Amino acid sequence: MARIFISCRIFPEEVERLERAGHEVVMFPGDLIGREELLRNVADVDVLIVPLSTRVDAQVLASAPGLKVIANLGVGVDNIDLEEARARGIVVLNTPGVLSETVADLAFALMLAVARRVVELDKRLRAEGFPGWSFMPPHLGRDVWGATLGIVGLGRIGAAVARRARCFSMEVLYYSRTRKPDLEDELGCRYVPLDGLLRASDFVVLCVPLTPETHHLIGERELSLMKGTAYLVNVARGPVVDEEALVRALKGGGIAGAALDVFEREPEVHPELPRLANVVLTPHIGSATVDTRRRMASLAVDGVLAVLRGERPDNLVNPDVWPGKL
Ligand code: NAP
Ligand code: GLV
Repeated sequence: MARIFISCRIFPEEVERLERAGHEVVMFPGDLIGREELLRNVADVDVLIVPLSTRVDAQVLASAPGLKVIANLGVGVDNIDLEEARARGIVVLNTPGVLSETVADLAFALMLAVARRVVELDKRLRAEGFPGWSFMPPHLGRDVWGATLGIVGLGRIGAAVARRARCFSMEVLYYSRTRKPDLEDELGCRYVPLDGLLRASDFVVLCVPLTPETHHLIGERELSLMKGTAYLVNVARGPVVDEEALVRALKGGGIAGAALDVFEREPEVHPELPRLANVVLTPHIGSATVDTRRRMASLAVDGVLAVLRGERPDNLVNPDVWPGKL
């Protein structure tokens, strides 16, 4: 029997699966746990299931001496101190794959919304009414179909974005840590170094994880390489972009616009961003559909149950630690 703490509400049937397997489960009944409450609750647990808004750093790990498994409700694991988890022999799980299509849908929604000025014009219509159809209105947008798309990070989500782009007759360029010849053949996309991708793309979509190498991957210099008519879409992690530099580029006309699902200091949003008309903002909703959140919860619980049975799950983030303290 393991003691499991879940630091946010998840679907009750998933909690029941853990309990039916004989484990003792405590679930924080809200969505955003406070730091003190978290530290109090981890003191005697074996397993921690967390949303990516729960920061599992060295202090949390030191407060949980019996911790053996962390399951992150998300694919990005930058909220977890992986080095410290490794040093303590703690197995870390995430939720890869089950959310890729849903996040790719959002990337397209954001691209279309910013290029066709959907949010800006919706707001204007509500405030001022519909002034009548005109041929040369001040609100002409840009085409997404047929444009050049640059994907930064051709992993699961990046590939799902590339698949959608084919249906929009887009030319797809990508930059990634490793080249993907199979995907180049399958999706008809072309590898280019990052600078070349930034210079050539009408839309740049960020799909990389946040790591020390990708922190501020897009800064002042990179933004200056982009076309003045181009848009930046970030569905990865906020700190991949230098937000101050982005605000300057947006205000100074360095790029045409940006659509952001993630922010450098979540849940803080840079105060200038909501004031800009050429920006679309969503509150980190990439995977936020009912079905996908069910799949994520289910995958996390599958992984925890497997680990507790002594089986190695597929969604292991740190295989070098396996089997850890189990
Ligand atoms: P993935 O399959 O691991 O893909 C990430 C890709 O980025 C891989 O192709 C990887 O290259 C590449 N990459 C890693 N470091 C790089 C670097 N320094 N330079 C260039 N490319 C690099 O992950 P995924 O499932 O697609 O998820 C990607 C990220 O999206 C997550 O880590 C998370 O931060 C974010 N995300 C956001 C939302 C949201 O709600 N907005 C939802 C889900 C995920 P290799 O192939 O060589 O490893
Ligand atoms: C969401 O941001 C995730 O990493 O799953």
